[in-house]
Amino acid sequence: MSREPKSFDNLLGGNAKGLSDLQLKAHFTLYQGYVKKLNEIWEQLGKADRSAPNYSYNAYSELKRREPVAFNGTVLHELYFENIGNGSTQPSAQSKKLIEASFGSFDAWLADAKASLLSAHGWTVLVYDYQEQKLFNNLVRTEHDVGLFANTHIMVAIDAWEHAYFADYQTKKADYVANVLSGLNWDVINARLAQIGPHAQQG
Ligand SMILES: [Fe+2]
Repeated sequence: MSREPKSFDNLLGGNAKGLSDLQLKAHFTLYQGYVKKLNEIWEQLGKADRSAPNYSYNAYSELKRREPVAFNGTVLHELYFENIGNGSTQPSAQSKKLIEASFGSFDAWLADAKASLLSAHGWTVLVYDYQEQKLFNNLVRTEHDVGLFANTHIMVAIDAWEHAYFADYQTKKADYVANVLSGLNWDVINARLAQIGPHAQQG
């Protein structure tokens, strides 16, 4: 079992609003590191001794504790790089309808997403919950292995760790958040939202 890092070079050259090639390439390298570590963990787990698992310390136990960090670090970055863009796309009528039904209005979602991102030392993901049949902004903490809402489906992922913006924005995190939110790739997000739950068949 092994994963290959995906290429997101399509974002270079100004195709991710407000993000320079320098910033993006550094972030790609960090993402590739998660994929490498995920593969390393899976390789080690494949041959790990399962005879003495232990909460305090055991090689197998520690690999299992670190697996979600590398796994979510890989997947969240892929979702993020897929769903950022240059601002040339628009939410579909179906996406708008679901966002409005969940947050009251599109602007209310944006305001909540901004507030969550500025609260986060980590990620904010827009998730769909099948039980409530609505979207939530979910603040994912620490090493992106803590706080992810159970049994939801991620529609939008936005990285608010310093490494995602510091080369371009230094401490002006709000400017990064504004640019990334206004530059989202709605073609990708519309397709994700079109797949979910009872809303999938609605126009
Ligand atoms: Fe990141």
